[in-house]
Amino acid sequence: MALNAEKIKGIAFDAYGTLFDIASIDFLLEQIFDDRARQIAAQWRRKQLEYTWLRTLMGQYKDFYELTRDALYYALEATNTSADEAQVRELMQQYYHLDVYPEVRNALARLRGTYRLAILSNANPSLLERAVAYNGLDEWLDEIISADQIRQYKPVPGIYQLAEKELGLPAENLLFASSNTWDVAGATAYGLQTAWVQRRRSVMERLDVKPAVTAANLEELADMLLT
Ligand code: LAC
Repeated sequence: MALNAEKIKGIAFDAYGTLFDIASIDFLLEQIFDDRARQIAAQWRRKQLEYTWLRTLMGQYKDFYELTRDALYYALEATNTSADEAQVRELMQQYYHLDVYPEVRNALARLRGTYRLAILSNANPSLLERAVAYNGLDEWLDEIISADQIRQYKPVPGIYQLAEKELGLPAENLLFASSNTWDVAGATAYGLQTAWVQRRRSVMERLDVKPAVTAANLEELADMLLT
């Protein structure tokens, strides 16, 4: 589906990898785990995603913060790494202090005048609110929409439907922007217009849906929308 820019009245952004840079945790991971840090980071993120999908399939909701801690414990065990409770707590606390990508503030400030803006994320509200406040994004966001509201994770259709409900706009008036290819696929399948924020080289999923537009970052997306 090609982008129908004139129709767009609201934009919902995915959180991790799209607004917030998970790599903000890498420094602490390296401090604690040294040359094992990369392996742990990769396992941690992969397992975190898997647990969102598996729990949704199992019908067993657990909030994103707790599920992320479970994924960290899994990654530690899988890599034969020991960590004490204080280290795990410190790593988890990093989720409250993730940095946004460098262009995010400026892009949101530009888009704010024309569109209603929201975050649409798997993360629980307190996690999102604290990361938003830490980065001073509050002033540009109209809504913080969380999977916690339906106790199911992306890519179930119900979560993309929340964007319509919370922003008060039908799907055709909404653009969903994510760097996560599977998330782009889910939102496109639901019927939102979608932007793939392709921050690094990666390939789109083969799930029979294509994003309306691809941008290297949010500044480029703002350029496309505001011309
Ligand atoms: C989120 C993850 C998928 O914020 O990045 O929902």
